[in-house]
Order: sequence, then C-alpha cells, then structure tokens
Amino acid sequence: MKRIAVFTSGGDAPGMNACVRAVVRAAVYYGIEVYGIRRGYNGMIKGDIVKLESHSVSNIVQKGGTLLKSARSDEFRTAEGRKKAFDQLQNLGIEGLIAIGGNGTFTGAEIFFNEYGIPTVGAPGTIDNDLYGTDNTIGFDTAVNTALDAIDKIRDTADSHDRIFFIEVMGRDSGYIAIQSGLGGGAELVMVPETDTAIEEVIETLKSGWTRSKSSSIIVVAEGDEEGGANEVSIKVKEHIPYGDIKVTLLGHVQRGGSPTAQDRILASRLGVAAVEGLMAGRKNVMAGVINNEVVFTPFHDTITKRKPIHPDLIRLVNILSV
Ligand code: F6P
Repeated sequence: MKRIAVFTSGGDAPGMNACVRAVVRAAVYYGIEVYGIRRGYNGMIKGDIVKLESHSVSNIVQKGGTLLKSARSDEFRTAEGRKKAFDQLQNLGIEGLIAIGGNGTFTGAEIFFNEYGIPTVGAPGTIDNDLYGTDNTIGFDTAVNTALDAIDKIRDTADSHDRIFFIEVMGRDSGYIAIQSGLGGGAELVMVPETDTAIEEVIETLKSGWTRSKSSSIIVVAEGDEEGGANEVSIKVKEHIPYGDIKVTLLGHVQRGGSPTAQDRILASRLGVAAVEGLMAGRKNVMAGVINNEVVFTPFHDTITKRKPIHPDLIRLVNILSV
C-alpha cells in the first residue's frame, strides 16, 4: 500500500488529534504517503484533502478537538455523494482509508466499502463509549473526568444549600458517561438508557435520603434516558418532593472538549498505529479496538449493530454506595 488517507467524522472527541498524529507518524515510519481529509465525509466529497507530513502533526498530541475538523454529512448518505467521494479518492490514488469516529462514521464506512471496496480501517473516536469491539473509545475517559470535575463542583454548592441536583451528561443511546461519572462522583442515583429507572424509584430514593437526614442529593441523568433528560425528569419529580430546592444542570458540549487524559492519548496512539498496520496487513471493513489490553479488529457491522452492555456491577454499586 503506497498512499492512504485519514479523516475524523461525527462528534469530535478528545484524543482524535493524538490518533491522527499516530496514523501520520506510523505511515511515515513505514514509507506510506498519507493524506488528511478535512471535515469528514463532506471533505471527501468536496476533495478537501491535504498531504500530511510528520511535522504536520507536531504539537497536537495534547490538544482537544481535531485539526482535521469534523462533520456529520447528509450528502454522504446519498449514492451520488458517495460516488463523488470515490472519484475524489481515485483522482488522488488513495488506496486505503482510516476513519476515526463513532457509529455514524462506521455505518457510512461500511456502505462505502461495500460499494467501492476501498480498504478501510476504523479507530473508535467518540466520547459515548458506545462501540462494540473495544473496552473504551478514544475521548471517553476525558469526558468522564470532565463530567466528574463538574459533579464535584456542583456537590459543593448542593451541600451548602441543601439542594437536589439533576445533572445531565451526554450519551444519546448510552449511559457509559453517566454511570462512570455518577459512580466516581458519589451520585445518589444514575439514570441510563440501558436500564429502566422508573420515576417512582427516583422519588423513593430522594425521600428515603431525606428521612436519613441527607440534605443534598445528586442524580446523574444520561441525555438518552427513556424518562427524558434532566429537565424532564426534574419536572416529573418536583411535585412529589415538597422539601429541598431542585436544580438542573446540563453539562452539554463541555464534555467534548479539553486536553485528552493520558489514557486517551495512549489509546489513541495505539489504535492509530494499529489502523495503519492493519491496512498494511490487508485488513478492511473493520475497526481497531483494545479489549483486555490487546489490540483486536472487529467488523464494522458488529461495531454498529451489537450492543456493548454496561457491566451490571456498576449499576449495583451506585445503589449500594448511596445507602
Ligand atoms: O456522539 C457523541 C455526542 O456527543 C452524543 O453524546 C451527543 O448526543 C451528540 O454527540 C451531540 O451531537 P451534536 O454535537 O452534533 O449536537
């Protein structure tokens, strides 16, 4: 393989830059030319593609965001859009692709591979950690730590004012950020899409805390919980809780930014190199991940269709520890 291209796509995640750097440096190391596609699939369609050298990725390992920029592309969902993208890659003689992103990115990559057969290897870049085929995704650890830092700060003021806080964290279909930041932050309850938490249970938890003289409580709500986000849940609960002031904080996109943690930089570096080596070894239509500290390759189809369950222990622990 002589020439490859790398792109970041979907919601950005801290560590994407470290992964791009690893891809570029590994390609240079192995004597492969490497191009960067800007703004994900949109840039592929428009031909917004630049040659990258080793120095192009200097001083980015520690930076949040993605120097290649990112986008969610509607045009790539169409056959015409994908044809334009293929023509752009053909013109440049690109023989392999490395896609850094989440399930939307790999859904597109699988369709594109089936239509045009350009070997593609993915690296999981999303704060949600909702991809099957890797224990952690790039950006997840940083997002958890960002959420945890915010929860700690909210707990200070919740305690001072004897308040109940509903804190919403990201995770459209996944409760990973919620469960880990909630467990780490000592939340009284965590609401995640993977398990049903009835409103009655929320009310019961708050009431029983109150009778045990808990003056403040933190409930972490994943944005994708089926009872709704933190605003909706707080409204449903409010009329049943006659004591305590109820407040809501939505952490939002703050969770997507910031300098990646050591764990995310290391994971990103491993997977960037693994993706290049995977392409060189003839792998295609797969995502590189790390399971039990070993690099593994999983078909795109499995990464997007199979669900990675939250370990039931984590949910059990939140209940035990909030007694
Ligand atoms: O997929 C990552 C994620 O941050 C989700 O947790 C969130 O629901 C979504 O992206 C938000 O996307 P956007 O920034 O496009 O609104």
